[in-house]
Amino acid sequence: MTRETWATRAGFILAAAGSAVGLGNIWRFPWVTADNGGSAFLLVYLGIVLLVGVPGLLGEFVIGRGGKKSPVGALRDLSGSSAWGLWGVFYVVTAIALISFYSVVGGWILRYFGESALGLAGARPAYFAAPGQYFGGAAAGLDALGFHLLFLGLTALVVYAGVRRGIELGTKVMMPAVLALLVGLAVWAGTRPGAAEAYAFYLSFDLETVRANFFDVLAPAAGQALFTLSLGAGTMITYASYIDEDRSLPFDGTVIAVLNTLVGVLAGLVVFPLLFSLGVDPSQTAPGPGALFVGLAGAFSQLPAGALVATAFFGVVVLAALSSSISMLEIPVSFLVDEYGLSRRRAVALVTGAVVVTGGVCAINPTIAGTAVFGFVAGPLVDTLLTAGLTAVLIFVGWVMGRDAVAEFRSGAGGFSAALATPWLLATGVALPIFLLFTLLTTFG
Ligand code: PHE
Ligand code: NA
Repeated sequence: MTRETWATRAGFILAAAGSAVGLGNIWRFPWVTADNGGSAFLLVYLGIVLLVGVPGLLGEFVIGRGGKKSPVGALRDLSGSSAWGLWGVFYVVTAIALISFYSVVGGWILRYFGESALGLAGARPAYFAAPGQYFGGAAAGLDALGFHLLFLGLTALVVYAGVRRGIELGTKVMMPAVLALLVGLAVWAGTRPGAAEAYAFYLSFDLETVRANFFDVLAPAAGQALFTLSLGAGTMITYASYIDEDRSLPFDGTVIAVLNTLVGVLAGLVVFPLLFSLGVDPSQTAPGPGALFVGLAGAFSQLPAGALVATAFFGVVVLAALSSSISMLEIPVSFLVDEYGLSRRRAVALVTGAVVVTGGVCAINPTIAGTAVFGFVAGPLVDTLLTAGLTAVLIFVGWVMGRDAVAEFRSGAGGFSAALATPWLLATGVALPIFLLFTLLTTFG
């Protein structure tokens, strides 16, 4: 059986951008930012996106396009060492950890979308009455479990349909819809009273705070930067493995990083004016995963056409989340297909079955040894796995592939970007791994 490929170049870019743009931009970003001192965090985060994110993205692309297999097969074949193949399994595990909590949040979102849409039919969305209490119920027990299964089921359907007919076709529809709706919402939010204050809050950088907190925000900022670009999980290796023809990886990588940042900024331009227009100070709302659902959901309830705005907003988030969750599920699926010759159908069934359980635990969210599972998986665990995962990718590119990585980088690239190949390799093999290992140490130290 020949391996699947993307049908078009735009297909690859949209699928990868679809993976990057997700809950990370809209849901995780505000609460991680709020937890880590706001604007100080933002600046460090943007710096890491640019200086580590883009070269890292290219590292994963080079491995994926060069190896033409799932992370396990690509790392093994390119290095000729089964130890690297074994390390590839690390990405499969990371992907399972990711989708386990992601699908739970996806479920909450799906529920809020459904509730809001009911509002279009005349019924008042249930969460309008008491947002805090409503979220408490939605995020617990069988409610959370049920919607987790629903969201996971949707994800599995898309992945089951295949690289071209599922992922590519799906993201081709989802991504433009996300962009168009967000631009519309941001323009509308800009007309709300309090928008000017919101922009000032959101876009003002306080250099002094950055300096004072630099080392405290380094690890969470790096974690968030990797998370938002889908780095360190093997996603971008997997997606790049389906590239058929020659194309400029630096160009594609830049487009993807810019699109992802644009959506993040746009999301802020929607969220903050809405909160400010109702006199909610975002830095005063309780930090944590519920921030968006409680603060923003409460804001919707007080708007003139609240149900309509909420439907558009949660619609955006559902699409963004789905185009990311499929990219997580695809990693273990491609591993089973490539390594064990399983049919896509079987592979999807197996992986989905596993995530029913692991995600179910995140949904129920028991406290083990004094730590609530959900917050641990969604925060420190995933951050650490992604940082370790990307560090290994960079070391592999710099020290195992070396000159081959430069050749892969240059192939299909035009003049300017080809000239960047050697500086990129140096940064990738030396500076960035040191930086990432350092941030890992600050997490534990
Ligand atoms: N980038 C996605 C987001 O921002 C999350 C993601 C992480 C997807 C890692 C795939 C791999 O929501
Ligand atoms: Na993202």
